[in-house]
Amino acid sequence: MRSVRFHDYGPPEVLKVDDVPNPEPGEGQLLVQVSAAGISYAEIQIRGGVMEQFAWFPDPPLPHALGFEVAGTVVKVGEGVGDEWVGRKVVGVSPTAGGYSELAVLPVAVAQALPEGLSEHEALALYGQGVVAVGVAEVADIQPKDVVLVEAAAGGVGSLLVQLAKNAGAEVIALARGEKKLALARELGADHAFDYTEADWAQRVREVAPAGVQVVLDSVGGEVSQAAFDLLAMAFGRMVVFGTASGKVPQFDPEQVYVRGVSVTGFGPRVFIQPEYGFRLRRTAFELAAAGSIKPVLGPVFPLAEAAEAHRAFEERVTTGKVILVP
Ligand SMILES: NC(=O)c1ccc[n+]([C@@H]2O[C@H](COP(=O)([O-])OP(=O)(O)OC[C@H]3O[C@@H](n4cnc5c(N)ncnc54)[C@H](OP(=O)(O)O)[C@@H]3O)[C@@H](O)[C@H]2O)c1
Repeated sequence: MRSVRFHDYGPPEVLKVDDVPNPEPGEGQLLVQVSAAGISYAEIQIRGGVMEQFAWFPDPPLPHALGFEVAGTVVKVGEGVGDEWVGRKVVGVSPTAGGYSELAVLPVAVAQALPEGLSEHEALALYGQGVVAVGVAEVADIQPKDVVLVEAAAGGVGSLLVQLAKNAGAEVIALARGEKKLALARELGADHAFDYTEADWAQRVREVAPAGVQVVLDSVGGEVSQAAFDLLAMAFGRMVVFGTASGKVPQFDPEQVYVRGVSVTGFGPRVFIQPEYGFRLRRTAFELAAAGSIKPVLGPVFPLAEAAEAHRAFEERVTTGKVILVP
């Protein structure tokens, strides 16, 4: 079968379509004929070698087949899995990756039947980024009238966070790069939208939120995080860190945490892979979408052979919403 792999860390061009043996489902696993694979930003960073700087992230053995998020049809089951799974359309996240392929193996424990009323692409967006968005919004404990600052607000997770924060009754300030993304954030309900690649963005936030913002949802890291931390409202401002798209870890002055009475907390895979918690977040994301309360934004779809182009689009920051590969 065809599988997109990289043999060395590097730019998008290191992604190659290789011919590899078909995988076999092991105990408790499903073999899925992939019809769509989601791309998440972490995969861009894994391929680029950015994650190597983080001691907590284990480097995958090379060559590595990327692809956590998978949608498709079950064609075979491993030991201990009932034959009734064969033929089912499922969506899931493979902890061992390999989704950028014609066939992928998914543990039955993380597979779920395609939810009614959602397309495969929407389900993929919700299974990955939707779970993160719901979890981050819960951790932030967004209250009506809070002012919420959302970074990368037109991205996969960010576009859902804008909607979740609006649903909670908050005033939303969206940060993104370029007019197209700012327009999308406004369309999703953001009350204000600023380009954080412009030097005066923090000042513009201060103009609309003179007392600061109650919540920062931080996925960029580096200077953006630092400036966003400085914008937190005194007494109970809350920042949730859930990504470092800039490749730079956020830096804060810990003294400011108690002097200003603010908090910084995190949300990452170690939290949401706890089975019951992750299951609840996923169910919530699907239910909210089914009820029309959130709408996953679908981005560009690339054929498997153009995985490098898809990764380049991410790196050039031209994508909005969920980016998908199809075999
Ligand atoms: N904690 C978790 O468990 C978890 C799980 C999934 C994803 N994440 C994180 O959540 C964030 C969003 O993920 P996503 O998959 O939905 O991606 P995404 O938001 O669709 O894409 C990443 C966005 O980050 C922004 N960005 C800011 N600085 C950047 C830089 N220096 N280089 C490239 N992009 C930059 C870009 O938007 P602008 O051009 O508008 O700035 C880009 O489109 C990422 O940081 C990701 O690592 C965390």
